Amino acid sequence: MAGPSPARRETAAGRGPATGLSIRKLAPAIGAEIDGVDLREDLSQAAIDGIRQALLDHRVIFFRDQDITSEQHIAFARRFGELEVHPFTPNRKDHPEVILLENGPDNKSRINVWHSDVTWRIEPSLGSILRAVEVPEIGGDTIWTNMVAVYASLSDELQQRLDGLFAIHDFTHNFGRGMNPDRLSAMQKKFPPARHPVVRTHPETGEKALYVNGAFTSGIEGMDANESDSLLEKLYRRAQVPEFQVRFAWRENSIAFWDNRTTQHYPISDYWPQSRRMERVTVIGDAPF
Ligand SMILES: [Fe+2]
Repeated sequence: MAGPSPARRETAAGRGPATGLSIRKLAPAIGAEIDGVDLREDLSQAAIDGIRQALLDHRVIFFRDQDITSEQHIAFARRFGELEVHPFTPNRKDHPEVILLENGPDNKSRINVWHSDVTWRIEPSLGSILRAVEVPEIGGDTIWTNMVAVYASLSDELQQRLDGLFAIHDFTHNFGRGMNPDRLSAMQKKFPPARHPVVRTHPETGEKALYVNGAFTSGIEGMDANESDSLLEKLYRRAQVPEFQVRFAWRENSIAFWDNRTTQHYPISDYWPQSRRMERVTVIGDAPF
């Protein structure tokens, strides 16, 4: 009987010295764990290139036992691009790029919906780097799904129907809940609904990914509400098929780094009243095309 496949040793051939990265797939469709790297260090460009390639190959990559400071978290994220300051989510006062996702007895997590981050922005994130600070004894896993595979699984006819369509993405669906009317209208002026292709092309790999999500997509442009809702529902159901997914059990100082352009995620809210504290630094992306 075959044992588990051995970890693939990455040598970053053609990019200078070996990086020492060891990459092990966690599920057939998406996700890999990377060992052999210490994120407290100022990594070589070859190591960063290897990590970036792993992100493109596996869409979400995981690191374990990375006891890093906020400064190290920010420094690592900056190697991949400019950093985002989220206008709605609480952040560290000393480091506004670090978002705090904190839930406990008085604050049950309500982000247990499938989504890609900040798709209501004109330029949604390239990726997010999320670190677990405190985890519940059991529960609080996150699931990611591969939206390139989801798109590829659709019939030719449906793919053709979607290509060329645009959808509207709006933060009010989610972050607008409970916001006082004055603030809501000020934020709507600042962040008007964004229009993105229903099928986006990855700017680095050229892959096509389905790019609508139940948290922020308000409708498909040019369709009446019923037709739009029923098409979106059909697409969301497809995106929830387990074969396209990986599920990650967090430990303290685990890190997930996902490509927000080709994935969606679902943070499971099954641990209340236990506590879970996470910190996220987010890399700005470009306008989907
Ligand atoms: Fe998210």
